[in-house]
Amino acid sequence: MEKNILVTGGAGYIGSHTVLQLLLGGYATAVVDNLDNSSPVAIRRVKELAGDHGRFLTFHQIDLRDKPALERLFSRTKFDAVIHFAGLKAVGESVEKPLLYYNNNLFGTITLLEVMAAHGCKNLVFSSSATVYGWPKVVPCTEEFPLSAVNPYGRTKLCIEDICRDVQHADPEWRIILLRYFNPVGTHPSGHIGEDPCGIPNNLMPYIQQVAVGRLPHLQVYGTDYNTKDGTGVRDYIHVVDLADGHISALQKLDDPKIGCEVYNLGTGKGTTVLEMVAAFEKASGKKIPLVMAGRRPGDAEIVYASTEKAERELKWKAKYGIEEMCRDQWSWASKNPYGYGSPPDTSQS
Ligand code: NAD
Ligand code: UD1
Repeated sequence: MEKNILVTGGAGYIGSHTVLQLLLGGYATAVVDNLDNSSPVAIRRVKELAGDHGRFLTFHQIDLRDKPALERLFSRTKFDAVIHFAGLKAVGESVEKPLLYYNNNLFGTITLLEVMAAHGCKNLVFSSSATVYGWPKVVPCTEEFPLSAVNPYGRTKLCIEDICRDVQHADPEWRIILLRYFNPVGTHPSGHIGEDPCGIPNNLMPYIQQVAVGRLPHLQVYGTDYNTKDGTGVRDYIHVVDLADGHISALQKLDDPKIGCEVYNLGTGKGTTVLEMVAAFEKASGKKIPLVMAGRRPGDAEIVYASTEKAERELKWKAKYGIEEMCRDQWSWASKNPYGYGSPPDTSQS
């Protein structure tokens, strides 16, 4: 095995896809996850999909804020780098329960950084988000844009970015890459791993998926009067496998001793409207998605997409897949796993 990587939140949506790419790329991978928003089945399936490489995957059910447990893990294993996905991510929930988000995302990260420093592991890749661009005045968003947070979730991302910059400034031995994801969608082409949100989804793709499999009656289109080609909001959707590969490129970039604390957008640089996404999903699935045209969702930006130049130039990474592949693979996962990793609800008692 080439290197030993710790992945926090590795049972989750993006984490599980990245762990698979790491294993296939020859990295030994340890996952830490408290399974708050994920299932152990994801880990089992990643192991299967990795074939022979699956034996280099270990799983540890640990909450990042449990410092003694994290200490024990770092004492047993020498990690070359950490990819830090673990965190809570539902924007609406973060508005209702800000302390939960500050506690989990900030304490979790601080504890991780303390334990890493104590054990001499100072290479980190962190999951940030395009949410730190707030409501961009122009597009595409470049990494130099002014940063702002418009909800507690976004504030945790911004705050963790600042913590990382401060930590690296204070101790130049740290090498840190902050990756700002745009809108991850799609799943592994096998359809065996994917996104499995708890409750009613907030984000577009999981919502469309649940309408397609008959779990929800229709999609509400939030806003039809935006200044876009069909009046609906524009986003930069990126295939989760491309996103996972971006992490491998970031890990390789950490070998550069001059990296310091650097930030990269991970997107495709292309904008897609809600109606274009619906049409692509209908084509891929052969299912009709009933629509209800609704008002704008409070807090939504009109048009957001990435400048991908810096990642292409410095990480030598570029997204390969378009919305056809994103919808094809999402449908493969949805049709094989209409209830995600769980079972259909038991309605026999009602
Ligand atoms: P996810 O919820 O599927 O995965 C996050 C994982 O972290 C889950 O498995 C959860 O159980 C685990 N976790 C949460 N708190 C933990 C803790 N205290 N200790 C241990 N494990 C903990 O989310 P995802 O979509 O895979 O997102 C991964 C990361 O990427 C998150 O930090 C998220 O904020 C960020 N991100 C996601 C998106 C997106 O649209 N999915 C966009 C931008 C950024
Ligand atoms: C969401 C998050 C943001 C995160 C980003 C990337 C919110 C408020 N924001 O934003 O913090 O960085 O994902 O993952 O959750 N739409 C509908 N109907 C729906 C759902 C969405 O029309 O049922 C529309 C939205 O108005 C938007 C587009 O679809 O125009 C995409 O929405 P969504 O998937 O929630 O992503 P973001 O709005 O980019």
